[in-house]
Amino acid sequence: MNKYIDMINSALESYLPKSDDIVSQAMRYSVENGGKRVRPSLMLGFCELCGGDVKKTLPLACALEMIHTYSLIHDDLPCMDDDDFRRGKPSCHVKFGYEYALLAGDALLTLAFETALSAELDPKITVMATKELAVAAGWAGMVGGQVCDLQNEGKQVSLEEIEKTDALKTGELIRVACVLGCMAAGRNDKIPFAAEYARCIGLAFQIVDDILDVTSDTQTLGKPVGSDDENEKCTYVSLLGLERSGEIVSELTDTAKKALDGFDGDTEPLKSFADKMEKRKN
Ligand code: IPE
Ligand code: IPE
Ligand code: MG
Ligand code: MG
Ligand code: MG
Repeated sequence: MNKYIDMINSALESYLPKSDDIVSQAMRYSVENGGKRVRPSLMLGFCELCGGDVKKTLPLACALEMIHTYSLIHDDLPCMDDDDFRRGKPSCHVKFGYEYALLAGDALLTLAFETALSAELDPKITVMATKELAVAAGWAGMVGGQVCDLQNEGKQVSLEEIEKTDALKTGELIRVACVLGCMAAGRNDKIPFAAEYARCIGLAFQIVDDILDVTSDTQTLGKPVGSDDENEKCTYVSLLGLERSGEIVSELTDTAKKALDGFDGDTEPLKSFADKMEKRKN
């Protein structure tokens, strides 16, 4: 899966504005460098597994990374998680000011749809995939999850509520990554298997994020640690402890890998990707 990273980074660079105005600078600053590119890599991984054209799918993959990056810019704002560090650098609002961080997020979100619709796939597939992306990112998807996350602050909520929040705020962009990979390849019949893999690694991904918020350090993580505790977030870790949370991550990773049995091609890259995400340090 590593082979996709350079491809994704140069495509992202080509889509980002080149001008010198402050919002263009802020957009480039937040997108370039530092991100693991998990979501676009997953999309291209499923696309290749389904026999699709990875190059033609790149605009959709870049669109998803733009949406993800906008979500991080807004997530760090003082009215949200109030975090000053992101991807190993001062957060967008620290570097450019609140107003331009807000607008850079808005501009990345709109550029994402401009980029997605430039995909030279079968136009019906491009439209269907772009709609799916919009749903996953919006009020019933990632944004909806961020709403739950804010409303849960300072409360002792149930495990079911945390699972629902995580499935939306983090799970939806990971789900759409995997689903769009199949869709771009014209293999909608494989979507249920991709969605099951995504459900498991998406939840595992947020639990690992919550574990690292407690066990890591800012240098390794590239973002502040202890943020969840400071914001009184209710997480798997605060509810079940580090050890049980780690066990759940392992169980979810195993279930994710089993879901790949629904595919005929070489599932090894996506299996080891799931393992790598479980063991990640940042
Ligand atoms: C961070 O996502 C936000 C979560 C949903 C946990 P990533 O860990 O993928 O962040 P980057 O893209 O590598 O910076
Ligand atoms: C991320 O959750 C959710 C988003 C949709 C951005 P977190 O708030 O835990 O992510 P980090 O830890 O700031 O990256
Ligand atoms: Mg948050
Ligand atoms: Mg945060
Ligand atoms: Mg976090």
